[in-house]
Amino acid sequence: MIFKESIEKLGFISEPISKDIDIKKEIVRLKKEKNAIILAHFYQADEIQEIADFVGDSLALAQKAQNNSADIIVFAGVNFMAETAKILSPHKKVLLPDLNAGCSLADSCPPDEFKSFLEKYPDHTVISYVNTSAAIKMLTDIVCTSSNAVQIIESLPKDEKIIFAPDRNLGAYISKLTQREMVIWDGACTVHEKFSLEKIIQLKNENPHAKIIAHPECVEPILLISDYIGSTSNLLQFSQQDSSDTYIVVTEPGILFKMQNASPHKKFIPAPPNDSTCACNNCEFMRLITLEKMYNTLKYELPEIHLEKNVIELAKVPILRMLEISEKLGL
Ligand code: 13P
Ligand code: SF4
Repeated sequence: MIFKESIEKLGFISEPISKDIDIKKEIVRLKKEKNAIILAHFYQADEIQEIADFVGDSLALAQKAQNNSADIIVFAGVNFMAETAKILSPHKKVLLPDLNAGCSLADSCPPDEFKSFLEKYPDHTVISYVNTSAAIKMLTDIVCTSSNAVQIIESLPKDEKIIFAPDRNLGAYISKLTQREMVIWDGACTVHEKFSLEKIIQLKNENPHAKIIAHPECVEPILLISDYIGSTSNLLQFSQQDSSDTYIVVTEPGILFKMQNASPHKKFIPAPPNDSTCACNNCEFMRLITLEKMYNTLKYELPEIHLEKNVIELAKVPILRMLEISEKLGL
């Protein structure tokens, strides 16, 4: 098959694009011609968010992947998001412009180890964050995202024994909020664990009126000094509704594009990482998606996400439970 080798070796189509081509215009043209939809996460680069049909958090993206009339879904995000789209819309072609777009958090929960771990807790209900592979979802009772984790836990009886995987920070945070003891898998996101507490405090000292707003995947000391904690969409909504004029944003800085567009008069300061080599805290996986790769993907309809039928059938169950609970709660 054309480009099979390039995709196997590189994970994407490496064909150079002529300088005469207006890539953005071509993407829009191809999208129309092929009845394709581009779904993008808030952590994508600005230019990707600009050409996307829909930009959202992981819950909204799953909902959109389930409800759309396109023939092709091009995912500007990471692997677990594209897999979720395929699971929810198995008859559609789901494309991911670079198959290397993984997730450190999903990788921190290998299916074999997780399976053995679950054997120690046979009477527990398994709640998994959507940032997991399809193989982990097959071992899960209900999936959740950071937008609905608290509500999903609270939808269970008070005495229900719960395993939460894979994020130890989100797990500890929701366990505290819901006052439920949970067995928590020891995984984490390298991007969110890399923020520097010292540098954030220094920024706060320099901008005393700024509010610190953080994603719950951050470590507890950062959450303790935050004025608001929430999923990407919650952070965006808070920044629009709150009366402050400056925010120190402790999550992947791609979200600043929408924040700044929605509130042009406000100041958004991206929180710095604990890293001497790089001053920003981009998710290296999210940022693998480029306009060039997006163009080639739409043109050649590759690389495509393939999942076995039994994987789709089993992994779909906990995702649908999440979507049903979310719909009932108006999330
Ligand atoms: P959201 O569900 O808040 O969009 O977060 C996804 C994610 O990958 C956070 O690192
Ligand atoms: Fe995964 Fe972290 Fe990147 Fe989100 S920011 S996609 S959790 S590596």
